[in-house]
Amino acid sequence: MKSDTTMQINITRTEKSKIDHVDFNDLKFGQVFSDHMLVCDYENGEWGSPEVVPYQPISLNPSAKIFHYGQSVFEGMKAYKDAENNILLFRPLDNCKRLNISSKRLAIPELPESYFMDGLTELLKIEKDWIPTSEGSALYIRPFIFATGEGFHASPADAYKFIIACAPSGPYFSGKVKVLIEEKYSRSANGGVGFAKAGGNYAGQFYPTQLAKEKGYDQVIWTDDNTHEYIEEAGAMNIFIRINDTLVTVPTSDRILDGITRKSILEIAKDEGIDVEIRKLKVSELIEASKNGSLKEMFGTGTAAVISPISGFGFKGEDFDLPFVENTYADRLKKRITDIQTNKADDPYGWRVVV
Ligand code: PLP
Ligand code: COI
Repeated sequence: MKSDTTMQINITRTEKSKIDHVDFNDLKFGQVFSDHMLVCDYENGEWGSPEVVPYQPISLNPSAKIFHYGQSVFEGMKAYKDAENNILLFRPLDNCKRLNISSKRLAIPELPESYFMDGLTELLKIEKDWIPTSEGSALYIRPFIFATGEGFHASPADAYKFIIACAPSGPYFSGKVKVLIEEKYSRSANGGVGFAKAGGNYAGQFYPTQLAKEKGYDQVIWTDDNTHEYIEEAGAMNIFIRINDTLVTVPTSDRILDGITRKSILEIAKDEGIDVEIRKLKVSELIEASKNGSLKEMFGTGTAAVISPISGFGFKGEDFDLPFVENTYADRLKKRITDIQTNKADDPYGWRVVV
């Protein structure tokens, strides 16, 4: 394995940029991709040198283990540009560390931090013009690793590919989301892979989410796999619930992703003087709070969605609407975190990293 120091990264530039074909005033989430990507292969027991190459298709044999056994992990991050044209990242080392936590669970070899950090830095310097600056937009960054090693034997692959691809993106959700509390399906279980950003976790969510959409909901609120009595996550976001003036989120576990937005919002909320509780929360408590008027807000947090307010939830055929609230915690906290991310406010936490 190469040492964890700043490295030389080969760069092959695209002959013709696609940037002029992109309407930066009408960006969807993750639909168009920038000119280059970072690629790094693991073979013969070690990671090779990362390279920046033009964004392009990948060729794999049908026996590559990713297709059969789903050995793949990913991350989600964003790059921003401030008024001085600096490229900014938010807590990038946390994404790097979490990628390796996910990899370990999927028996994927650890990636040296410098490969991730130096590779990302090099890529972003080249893709600087692809970072949108309009409100609510950013360059969404998708680092991922998957098994390229071949064979039908159900065992870890002997070869992997690490790629970082980028997509200039607008907001993930266009407005508030209506959610259905899940009573049957689970996204994760004790001892499982719920805490990892494993590709298969998301595939497993699609069918229950499709069923929820057919009933008129946008997302599923995942509950614990054992009893379905406890709230866990909101789609691909961590969940926050405001009861009276207290902001509640559930503890992370084997089954819940340790969200970087979640832990940042927890710190910001405390510093804003908001009462914060990290504790288990029963569906029955949520319904009771809705009925007695103490339920004020619900929102999801995540890199893609930032903070996504929830308009209401369904449970056992009944719908519960969230009340109208002035000066929501969601709006206040979203402004605080995005101001820090985009250098519109001081960053007392040291989370912002200039590339
Ligand atoms: N929970 C799940 C299942 C996710 O996929 C994500 C998205 O990354 C999150 C929570 C939020 O994590 P983060 O804030 O680190 O993006
Ligand atoms: C993110 O928030 O970055 C994620 O990875 C969630 C994804 C499903 C868009």
